[in-house]
Amino acid sequence: MDNKKNIVLIGFMASGKTETSRELARRLGRERVSTDEVIVKREGRSIADIFAQEGEPYFRRIEREIVLACALDNNLVIDCGGGVAADEVNFNALNKTGITFYLWTTPEAVFRRTKGKTDRPLLNVENPLEKIKELLAKRDPHYRKAQYLIDSNEDNIGRVVDEILTIFSKH
Ligand code: S3P
Repeated sequence: MDNKKNIVLIGFMASGKTETSRELARRLGRERVSTDEVIVKREGRSIADIFAQEGEPYFRRIEREIVLACALDNNLVIDCGGGVAADEVNFNALNKTGITFYLWTTPEAVFRRTKGKTDRPLLNVENPLEKIKELLAKRDPHYRKAQYLIDSNEDNIGRVVDEILTIFSKH
């Protein structure tokens, strides 16, 4: 597969982007970039701490910088934080130089996977399922602009990876 276009994974929190991107990078021998991991490394603190200490707009500013830099590169597998593609500037840049895949999940699947975890500040609320439903309803139309939609509701990363590789091989 000699297509050098970035493979860009977008979708909601807990849609399997991280594991899928790891496996894709391994199978393709590509570098993987996680926007969240770059932010945490650069800031030397957790996402929860960045949100608590600086607020969400600060986080989004750094996220945008990283996304725009990635979009200028090629041959990457990019694991986008859940908010990345909800931003039009981010999405357009990534979609221009990469192949975008929406890992689609229902609110129930997200809830099942995130229950009891505290590392996602946006879900640290009294009624996380309601919050997931509300945020996902807002973001889904943005995510759907991706070139491909992959059903990621089953806990089966292998199948998601195979589906993406099949599509990629035809490019
Ligand atoms: C966010 C998703 C998280 C992380 C931050 C905000 C969001 O990434 O970037 O907590 O706005 O949906 P994951 O999608 O990897 O959980």
